[in-house]
Amino acid sequence: RNLLRNELPDAEVLVVSNREPYIHNLEDGQVALQRPASGLVTALEPIMRACGGTWIAHGSGSADRMTVDGDDRLAVPPEAPAYTLRRLWLSDEEQEGYYYGLANEGLWPLCHIAFVRPTFRASDWEQYVAVNQKFANALVAEARTRNPVVLVQDYHFALLPRMVREKLPEATIITFWHIPWPNAEVFSICPWKEEILSGLLGSSILGFHTQFHCLNFLETVDRFLECQIDREHSTVRAGDNTTLVRPYPISIEWPPAALAAQAPVDECRKSVRLKYGLAADALLAVGVERFDYTKGIADRFRAVESLLEVHPECIGRLTMLQVAAPTRSQLAVYRDTQTEAEAVAEAVNARFGTDDWAPIILVPKHHEPEAVFTLFRAADLCLVSSLHDGMNLVAKEFVAARDDEDGVLVLSTFAGASRELLEALIVNPYDIRAMGDAIHAGLSMPLDQRRERMRLMREMVGENNIYFWAGRMLLDAARMRKRQHIERQIA
Ligand code: G6P
Repeated sequence: RNLLRNELPDAEVLVVSNREPYIHNLEDGQVALQRPASGLVTALEPIMRACGGTWIAHGSGSADRMTVDGDDRLAVPPEAPAYTLRRLWLSDEEQEGYYYGLANEGLWPLCHIAFVRPTFRASDWEQYVAVNQKFANALVAEARTRNPVVLVQDYHFALLPRMVREKLPEATIITFWHIPWPNAEVFSICPWKEEILSGLLGSSILGFHTQFHCLNFLETVDRFLECQIDREHSTVRAGDNTTLVRPYPISIEWPPAALAAQAPVDECRKSVRLKYGLAADALLAVGVERFDYTKGIADRFRAVESLLEVHPECIGRLTMLQVAAPTRSQLAVYRDTQTEAEAVAEAVNARFGTDDWAPIILVPKHHEPEAVFTLFRAADLCLVSSLHDGMNLVAKEFVAARDDEDGVLVLSTFAGASRELLEALIVNPYDIRAMGDAIHAGLSMPLDQRRERMRLMREMVGENNIYFWAGRMLLDAARMRKRQHIERQIA
């Protein structure tokens, strides 16, 4: 907040994302508030709580276009309003083409190496263009100033930066791509690669999680677009706009709001073991994700199986508790991901389970942040074995939840978080045996080593928290605005 005031005085902040930070659902005739499972929301919501402004999002999960007193604007968070949520509504056709089609059957598998073939349909592209324009128009209508700071989120809105730039040439547009950016060869599969690149290059700043993704992006632009690339300053000039392309590794709020109401770790350990019918001294590994094929959930169950094979002394003692929120279930590949994971869990349980113990408990349900934090605090180990992930904030949340400085993190080398959480046990999720061994090593690790690793990881996330992430981008934006101001004076 201070940074915004000092560096960007009077700046109006507008966010645009597909996913909304608060979903109102109708459950048994009652309105129930849900906070969606989304890394983007986890990261951005505390920033908006701190600096205020307007967040424009698709009223996706919200039942029946629910409005408050007929207004699509809502002051949130409900318990202590700090910013405005402006919902836009999409028709089934728009949602089908823009969200399920182009974004999630096209760009998502294109950018994640999980060996799921991207599908590109011209009809989806048309909806994607139209929905980007719809959000751009809404944003421009919402803006009260000619030079707002616009924070564009993710692969749903690759075209929007240029659309906004055309209407608000003086806006500072900061676009953040929350997923990996593939190499140029892979990106060339996309039939609308030039349009997407040119859309993104309407931004003032384009952020990725890692330097590797930035380099991939620059290489892609170099191959497919008429533009000038200044590698020294990491900028791209396309048309009359210059974009700074930089890594800003995303993070979480520190300390996280969900930690405030948590019981001491001992109590969390007891209550979770009781809830799931586990022995008081049971070893507990947890996994928390959306049921997405990029998360490698079935393979992690196979790793537990391998562990039990190699270390039979863990039979009857270790339980892997996996909670997984169903996601994008309209797409067959997502339903299949869940079916496969359920089948593997069943097979492992049938092979090793006994009357009063199952090695894997799978709860395919959305959990609110407080419940997730209780699981983290109850666990001996957290397993994040994504096949590919931009950052993965679950890993950082686990670390944040452990103010007792205990607990082991097993983390995929293909998650961006592995570049920062160096004291995790880093694994290759395709190597099932090695992953099983790493879980075993984690569960056998002496307390002083667990503490040392956890302390270092907590230091890292505490320092490089979400305010630091936003602060770095806003400082870059502020410098840019000052320079533009000087240039205008000279002209
Ligand atoms: C990833 C994406 C986000 C998205 C989240 C949940 O983290 O980068 O943009 O919100 O997944 O997916 P969903 O499709 O449910 O919003």
